[in-house]
Amino acid sequence: MVKHFLQFKDLTRDELEYLFARTRVIKDRFKRYEKYHPLVDRTLAMIFEKSSTRTRLSFEAGMHQLGGAAIYLNTRDTQLGRGEPVEDAAEVISRMVDIVMIRTFEQEIIERFAGHSRVPVINGLTNEYHPCQILADIFTYIEHRGDIRGKTVAWVGDSNNMCNTWLQAAVVLDFNVHVSTPPGYEVEPERAGLYDTSHFESFADPMEACKGADLVTTDVWTSMGFEAENEVRKQAFADWRVDADMMKVARTDAVFMHCLPAHRGEEVDADVIDGPQSVVWDEAENRLHTQKALMEYLLLGKLDNQEAKK
Ligand code: CP
Ligand code: NVA
Repeated sequence: MVKHFLQFKDLTRDELEYLFARTRVIKDRFKRYEKYHPLVDRTLAMIFEKSSTRTRLSFEAGMHQLGGAAIYLNTRDTQLGRGEPVEDAAEVISRMVDIVMIRTFEQEIIERFAGHSRVPVINGLTNEYHPCQILADIFTYIEHRGDIRGKTVAWVGDSNNMCNTWLQAAVVLDFNVHVSTPPGYEVEPERAGLYDTSHFESFADPMEACKGADLVTTDVWTSMGFEAENEVRKQAFADWRVDADMMKVARTDAVFMHCLPAHRGEEVDADVIDGPQSVVWDEAENRLHTQKALMEYLLLGKLDNQEAKK
C-alpha cells in the first residue's frame, strides 16, 4: 500500500522518532557539504493552488540535494485550473513522477488526489492542516530543548491549519496544547481530526494559555483563502498578539515559534519574534531537513542510519 502524509497522525510515534533521527543525520551531512544522493532519477511534482516561499523552496532544493528532480505546477498554468477532475489529474501525474506534494484548499481535495495516486502524496498545506510545518517545528524544539513529550505548547490566535496540526501532534507524541482563540474562532475538534482531546485545553485569556508554557506559538490572523475576512479578523484578534508579557509568564526557557510569513504588530510583537527566545529562522530552515527525511522515508522506507551514511 502506498504511504501518504496527508495529516500529522498518518505517522506513528515510532515513524516520527525515526524521522527525527534521520533528519539529524541528513542535516549534519548537509552541513558538512557531503553529497548524499539516495533519490537519483526520482521526480517530485509540486502542485500549488496557493502562494508559497518556504514550502516550494524547501521541497525543490531538498529534492535536488537528494539527487532527484522537482517540477513546479500551479493552478493557473495547468488544466487543474480549467476544471480537470482532481482524480484524473492524480491518475496521470502519478504515472509520471515518483512522489507528489500538494498545497491546496479543502483537505478533501488532497484526500481525493491521494485516493487516485500510485505514488506517495504529501500535504504541503490545506485549509485544515500543515503537517510538514509541524514536523519541522517539533524537530526544532528537540534541537533546542530535547524531548517534547510531557511539555506544554501555548497556541495564541486562530484555530487554523497550524493549530489543528499541533493538536494532532500532541496526541501522537504525548504533549499538551493550551489554545486561546477569540470567541467565535474556537477549535472544532472534528475539523482538527481530533478524537482524543485529553492533550488539549482551551483558555479564554491568552495570558492563561501561556502560563508555564515550554513553547509559545502563533500564526497569521487571516490564512490564505480567507482574505475576505481580513478586516473583521483584525478587530476580533486585536488582543491575541503574542507580546513580551505573554513570554514573561511562560517558562524562562520557553521558545517562540511562528511558521512564517509573520505580520509584526499583528499576531506577534517585533520584540518577541526578533527577540532572544525566538527560534523562527531555525524553524524555517528545518523545513528543508525534515522534508528530505520525509521524502527519503516515503520512497525508500526506513534506512539503517549507519548504512545510509555511506
Ligand atoms: N510556512 C510556510 O509554509 O511558508 P510558505 O507559505 O512560504 O510556504
Ligand atoms: N495559516 C497560514 C499558514 C501559512 C504558511 C495559511 O494557511 O495561510
